[in-house]
Amino acid sequence: MSNPPITKVTVRASADADVPAMLAIYHFHVSHGLGELGDYEAEPLEADDMRRRRKNMRKHRLPHLVAEVEGIVAGYAYAVPFRKRPAYRYALKHSIYIHHLFTGCGVGRTLLPALMDACAGAGYRQMIGYIDPGNDASLKLHEGLGFARVGLLPSVAYKFGKWVDSVMVQRALGPGATTPPGSWVEAVVGSDGGK
Ligand SMILES: CC(C)(COP(=O)(O)OP(=O)(O)OC[C@H]1O[C@@H](n2cnc3c(N)ncnc32)[C@H](O)[C@@H]1OP(=O)(O)O)[C@@H](O)C(=O)NCCC(=O)NCCS
Repeated sequence: MSNPPITKVTVRASADADVPAMLAIYHFHVSHGLGELGDYEAEPLEADDMRRRRKNMRKHRLPHLVAEVEGIVAGYAYAVPFRKRPAYRYALKHSIYIHHLFTGCGVGRTLLPALMDACAGAGYRQMIGYIDPGNDASLKLHEGLGFARVGLLPSVAYKFGKWVDSVMVQRALGPGATTPPGSWVEAVVGSDGGK
């Protein structure tokens, strides 16, 4: 870890009041091209979009969490359906963004397991992420939490003037594929994506 670990990280469900802080984190990473973000946004994410998406996720039992350090929003994470088709309703894809002043301090190492637990608790069985091959922090974070590299999608992104691959990572949640799923079905289908 590049920075001293922060010992007290609190994870909770995000609230409307967190939207400005989450947007600031998001826009910082957009402008620096980290993670799955690039330098191009057809429609820049606005506070109202984030509020609407957050509410929609909650309605569909999809966790949307923030990590707080001494009352400051130090990161956020959420999951959306992996695919909208009904057969995929137990699989999620997730995103996590840590405030640039708090990266490398262990915040992701606290926030991502909390997101995994929340998703498992809601009955989801698989979690999928897409990571830029140059994003060592994200690869290390995910692999340390049991995500396996399951694929490499060549040249699927165009960021800052070049084609970029995506590493696909996956981890089972709860009993994974060892038991049939629970009885809830339609809850997540139709949810829109998030940012
Ligand atoms: C990627 C990201 C979520 C990781 O969260 P973080 O809070 O910075 O990571 P942590 O401090 O919890 O560290 C997690 C692991 O990654 C390692 N790590 C952290 N930063 C690293 C870096 N720059 N290079 C290599 N490894 C790194 C840590 O040593 C730790 O490993 P360990 O658990 O074996 O000790 C965060 O840096 C971030 O938001 N980056 C910008 C946006 C982004 O890339 N999002 C993910 C898109 S897939």
